[in-house]
Amino acid sequence: MTAVASAPAKAILFGEHFVVYGKPAIATALKRRVKATSTMNDVGEIRVRSMLGYSRIPLPCTDPHLYEHDPHKHIIFSAASVMRLLNKHVGVDILLESDFPYGMGLGASAATSVATIASVASLFGSISRDEVFRLSLEAERLVHRNPSGIDSAVCTYGGLVLFKDGRIERLDEKGYDSSHALRFMIVNSGMMKDTGSMVMKVKARGESSREEFASLAEMSEMLTMQALYAIMCSDLARVGELLTLNHGLLRRLGVSNDTLDAIVYTLVKNGAYGAKLTGAGGGGCIISLIDEARSSMLFDALCNYEAFTSSIEDDGVIIHTE
Ligand code: PMV
Repeated sequence: MTAVASAPAKAILFGEHFVVYGKPAIATALKRRVKATSTMNDVGEIRVRSMLGYSRIPLPCTDPHLYEHDPHKHIIFSAASVMRLLNKHVGVDILLESDFPYGMGLGASAATSVATIASVASLFGSISRDEVFRLSLEAERLVHRNPSGIDSAVCTYGGLVLFKDGRIERLDEKGYDSSHALRFMIVNSGMMKDTGSMVMKVKARGESSREEFASLAEMSEMLTMQALYAIMCSDLARVGELLTLNHGLLRRLGVSNDTLDAIVYTLVKNGAYGAKLTGAGGGGCIISLIDEARSSMLFDALCNYEAFTSSIEDDGVIIHTE
């Protein structure tokens, strides 16, 4: 028996890092997805295949320490925890296919765990989206110890969202008219980043320069709330300006580098409304708000980098019928 589910990529527009400390953030699901195909096997193992390679772990997989160095640890944990929840204990083969890069700040680890949880669950019955979110957040804790939950939330529920203190609010439910679709260009710096070590670096920075960290956190909150207002009014020029300001703030925090700064500069110089690094930083992707009419000029200016455009993806996790 086979079940298929998919979950979208995500990009944080405002407030990353400070969201870990309870400040608000705005993020969007993107029109790129990862698909998880789960099939029962009779060898009593969880077996995972993805672009990260191939893993096989015998059931019951109850102790994550036994597979803590496996690149698929969050997937094995996700599959094992959904089976525990549904009181099923059978071997499962999981195939993960993604049309967006891994380790680049687009939420691949959360999206793969969300898609896995939904597909394994639908082999046996179903679980609610809230359960998918909860289990994915537990799996994310294996990837880096203190996730805010924003990645799992966006990959589960989709849309353009405000996130604070573990709670998500979709902006279309607050009156945002998504027909004024924001158009994004996402540029991959090609530099892999490690969320866990960037989050630790920021924590150390907060401990060594408390006052400066507190004022950066205040600024991040102010930018996010001003951006929320600008998005609701569809004031694209203002949203873009705030994005670039947010990049400056993250640079000050120490999570940017020359390559990311150069991509932001190129985007803004070539007519993007604004641009910033997205996610943990240290590498990964840049997100920019653009006018569709300028996209070919922007692609040309950044021809040395992998790039794609996307509007807001309304759907979060989807169960596909085979
Ligand atoms: O780079 P990503 O996609 O792993 O995003 C990390 C976002 C942080 O705010 C830096 C951490 C978090 O858990 O919110």
